[in-house]
Amino acid sequence: MATEQPLEALAIEIAREAGALAQQRRTEGVAIAATKSSIADIVTEADREVERLIRARLADERPGDGFLGEESGAERGTTDITWVVDPIDGTVNYAYGIPAYAVSIAAVRGEPNPDAWEALAGAVFSPSTGEQFHASRGGGAWLDGHRLSVNEEPSTAGALLATGFGYDPATHASDLARVGRVMPMARDLRRIGAASLDLAFVAAGRFDGYFERGLQPWDHAAGALLVEEAGGRFAKIQLDDIPGRPLFVASGPGVFDRLLAAAVGP
Ligand code: IPD
Repeated sequence: MATEQPLEALAIEIAREAGALAQQRRTEGVAIAATKSSIADIVTEADREVERLIRARLADERPGDGFLGEESGAERGTTDITWVVDPIDGTVNYAYGIPAYAVSIAAVRGEPNPDAWEALAGAVFSPSTGEQFHASRGGGAWLDGHRLSVNEEPSTAGALLATGFGYDPATHASDLARVGRVMPMARDLRRIGAASLDLAFVAAGRFDGYFERGLQPWDHAAGALLVEEAGGRFAKIQLDDIPGRPLFVASGPGVFDRLLAAAVGP
């Protein structure tokens, strides 16, 4: 806790500043700067500028720490802490003017690889709603002063689930088959378009569960900690058909095994 809380406070502070900049740039108009892994995977000038701000603030405050950012890549530090950053998660929403996007900042310990690291602290800030989700290992998950808990069990009407479809068109057929397998246990399905918010909403009990294939480390570093600190479960499963596109599942404990089984399939 001695280490985690200052990291959490810094993540919160910088996520708010970064969110204010993202919102400001959104009101000024958004320009797509480039495409990345596929033509649907875009980066805006604002993503780059917001990541520069976060990186510079972290370098000032914690000069020895490492950095792993969606837009500007990785740099190893001299401490055992790495900051994992998505400056604007939900970039396509952001570019289209849909107000579901977030700044996601996590501090992790150990190798800068999600299979090996231990997440210590994280913040997911939604500039459009002003909601600040945050968590620290052992310190709980919080939304603006209220402690968060996942839903233990869905209602009798079924689970309110969320998903996403990654940018790799090669996974879309299996993504849709997965939706077909999962729907019998769902009361409905949401696709918000920002994985960090999907995970924050599982932590807050707004969703009973979430599944998506092909997330990147910066999409889930802070959100997975939120889910776990809110009493939920989070898993990454390698699937055989397309290597490098693992499946991620998050939910409360009551629905997790059923959701995982349906999402993975036969
Ligand atoms: C994306 C969003 C989206 C999810 C994609 C992510 P980005 O992140 O979280 O909801 O479906 O898998 O890559 O590109 O907007 O930062």
